[in-house]
Amino acid sequence: AQQWRGVIREYADRLPLLRDAPVVTLGEGGTPLIHADYLSELVGAEVYVKYEGLNPTGSFKDRGMTAAMSMAAKSGAKAVICASTGNTSASAAAYAIKAGMTCGVLVPEGKIAMGKLAQAIAHGAELLQVEGSFDDCLTVARKVAESYPVELVNSVNPARIEGQKTAAFEIIDVLGDAPDIHCLPVGNAGNITAYWKGYRESAALAADSDGHATKAPQMWGFQAEGAAPIVKGHPVDEPDTVATAIRIGNPASWRQALAARDESSGLIDAVTDRQILDAHRVISSREGIFVEPGSAASIAGLLMMHARGDIPAGATIVCTVTGHGLKDPQWALRNADGEDVQPTRIPVDAVTAARALGLED
Ligand code: F0G
Repeated sequence: AQQWRGVIREYADRLPLLRDAPVVTLGEGGTPLIHADYLSELVGAEVYVKYEGLNPTGSFKDRGMTAAMSMAAKSGAKAVICASTGNTSASAAAYAIKAGMTCGVLVPEGKIAMGKLAQAIAHGAELLQVEGSFDDCLTVARKVAESYPVELVNSVNPARIEGQKTAAFEIIDVLGDAPDIHCLPVGNAGNITAYWKGYRESAALAADSDGHATKAPQMWGFQAEGAAPIVKGHPVDEPDTVATAIRIGNPASWRQALAARDESSGLIDAVTDRQILDAHRVISSREGIFVEPGSAASIAGLLMMHARGDIPAGATIVCTVTGHGLKDPQWALRNADGEDVQPTRIPVDAVTAARALGLED
């Protein structure tokens, strides 16, 4: 059997932008859509989780990065640059290796999860810690890319959106149609833009061929309460949340996110850090799916809408969980009360082990 060939080759016919580009790939995409048994029962709908943590560098960014890096290679670029809360930099660093380019990453001081930082360093990226927020990092990265021979690979690069829209195609391929509702976290708002583009394109194609969606879902986006500029209607100067991935005060694709919300009759709402960490616990302990806190915002949003009585009975709902739990594992080491969970210490003895496991009185 042939293995999955990465999103550019798998969806070549729907990525006209990439047509003549050399393909820079690590085999991204083809991630599982997992039926969430506990959540489905709880909210009275058919809930699926799109597990994007299973991409090569552990986040959905790889879908966009294969496209952005392939376009950069096509243009003869020797270097790429990005601003990042961590995942984009991990992905850019890895794909730059594959493309034989150098990679500069700008990250906000002190707010990057350890796993993501380790990835950028392991892949030899030039790491700049900026004395400012993610939004400041993006401003600087854009200016550098304007004035110097280096390609910007943030989601303001149209190739990123093209690559990321393939997640919507995969969902439609598995379900046989688009879901009724799609939940996802919103940070810089590239991903909600990309999914909406993918769903719209599939619905537009449905008229002339099989295998496409007959409808588009409502897009339900969720920001963290302390970093919810779109919900509040104005930029947030000092965004703050445990979900460092989405700690963004002035999203680059703000306008596109509003379009996705309004054209789909969807919503963009805020979830608190408490709700995010509770959802993080639910999805790991009830579904067996380990995600980073930023990713749990989609699940937190689903649970919040359920608590409000706003989940249509029997609806098909997809929640994207965007990054792997191993990126930022510290949150899993605490219980619901915020206490550190310690393993039970035992001597080298089977009966004691059995007793500790409740197998023996
Ligand atoms: N989830 C995770 C795990 C992310 O890393 C990000 C964004 C998002 C959700 C939000 O996606 O920005 O398209 O709305 N991370 C970017 C980064 C900002 O630099 O890695 P978005």
